[in-house]
Amino acid sequence: MVLLRGLRWQRGISSKVNNTLARYFCIGSIGGPHLFQFILLRFVSKNTYPAGISRPESLYIEPYKIEMNIVLIFVSTVDGKVTKWGDPHVQRWSSQKDHDYFQKTWNDSEIIIMGSTTFDVEPLPLSKDRILVIMTGDPSKYKNKEVLGQLEFTNETPKKLISRLKEGGFERVLVVGGPHISTSFLKDRLIDELWLTIEPRIFGSGGNFVTEEKLDINLYLKNYAKVNEEGTLILKYTVIK
Ligand SMILES: NC(=O)c1ccc[n+]([C@@H]2O[C@H](COP(=O)([O-])OP(=O)(O)OC[C@H]3O[C@@H](n4cnc5c(N)ncnc54)[C@H](OP(=O)(O)O)[C@@H]3O)[C@@H](O)[C@H]2O)c1
Repeated sequence: MVLLRGLRWQRGISSKVNNTLARYFCIGSIGGPHLFQFILLRFVSKNTYPAGISRPESLYIEPYKIEMNIVLIFVSTVDGKVTKWGDPHVQRWSSQKDHDYFQKTWNDSEIIIMGSTTFDVEPLPLSKDRILVIMTGDPSKYKNKEVLGQLEFTNETPKKLISRLKEGGFERVLVVGGPHISTSFLKDRLIDELWLTIEPRIFGSGGNFVTEEKLDINLYLKNYAKVNEEGTLILKYTVIK
């Protein structure tokens, strides 16, 4: 009964607390009361009641499921360039509004994934509030840079990495590039949303946010905003799956 009441309460509380609880359940769901909870969630659900027979409200528990949202974020010029003539320092040409928005998005994310080439550009601030996961074919190269719970290096495939993170009960994963990493994630259909800033500039030469690869991905524009006088646009797309 205590467990049941606990679960009903769980539906009404903030997502941060929810997340912590979910992680706890995820980690501790090996046996004991958690096994009981799992059986309960599986079998005492709305769908197990035959048509015409009403379900006793006191027994019903909404199955608690974490939907992990995987967001790919980039800033680009109008002609699709994500670097200026190959210079890796993006903030030299992107607007102040984009810096602020990117900073906030970064701070709000629990997990941030990037490729080793982007990581190597400049040192990044670490925090106990988030884990930076750097993808590299050779994690041993970065052994001395690892910080437990804050900075990790992995040679997992994107699919393996994402299924590991799902086990952890994280709500939002931010994939910040570069183009090789974004292409790998898009190819494997792992991205749920694309958040793209378009700066009103044209560079002519420089890379796109995907590398040369045959992709066929449809998007749905769910949100857009003009954020300054010059016309910097922040677009949010959902990936149609
Ligand atoms: N405008 C923007 O918003 C934005 C955002 C991010 C980056 N950038 C720019 O993009 C440039 C870097 O992009 P990039 O495409 O060259 O490099 P990247 O995507 O940052 O990193 C690619 C590297 O990641 C490692 N890797 C590990 N697993 C991988 C996998 N499954 N798929 C692909 N790579 C994997 C490999 O390095 P190992 O050799 O270690 O194995 C690979 O060379 C920089 O100039 C940066 O400034 C722009």
